[in-house]
Amino acid sequence: MGIQARNPAESGDTGADESADVAPLLTEIDHVAIAVHDLGAAIDYYRETFGAVVDHREVVESDGVEEALLKVAESYIQLLTPTRDDSPVAKYLERKGEGLHHVGYRVSDCGAALDAVKAQGGKVIDEQPRPGSRGTTVAFVHPKGAFGTLIELVQE
Ligand code: CO
Repeated sequence: MGIQARNPAESGDTGADESADVAPLLTEIDHVAIAVHDLGAAIDYYRETFGAVVDHREVVESDGVEEALLKVAESYIQLLTPTRDDSPVAKYLERKGEGLHHVGYRVSDCGAALDAVKAQGGKVIDEQPRPGSRGTTVAFVHPKGAFGTLIELVQE
């Protein structure tokens, strides 16, 4: 084994510096949303099994859902159930059954993050940011073009 003639730290690889110039758009996992038939039963399950309790509960009439947010560190588990038959979550439950519905990524500027998705040719559900639950501003990105995951961009 010879003596290292070159210090890898001085190799001139500037990759790390270059990526540091671009601030990441996603700052936190805001929530993991799970579609359920019986909101009360799901809340009980999370409390009794994991000790996770409801931090916020809200009916979002425009989306036809009732949701319960269970805080886990700085993120939430969002349990979702439809309030009417024509709600997108009702259709989801009919088609796929209970389970993971979408992932909410926290961003500091929802409009800028949405523009970044569009600039990359991504398919969006919301052309403009709109009000979400607990006073947030949100926009949904279509799962087609996002590797099969419905993404919600969440600005607090
Ligand atoms: Co959500």
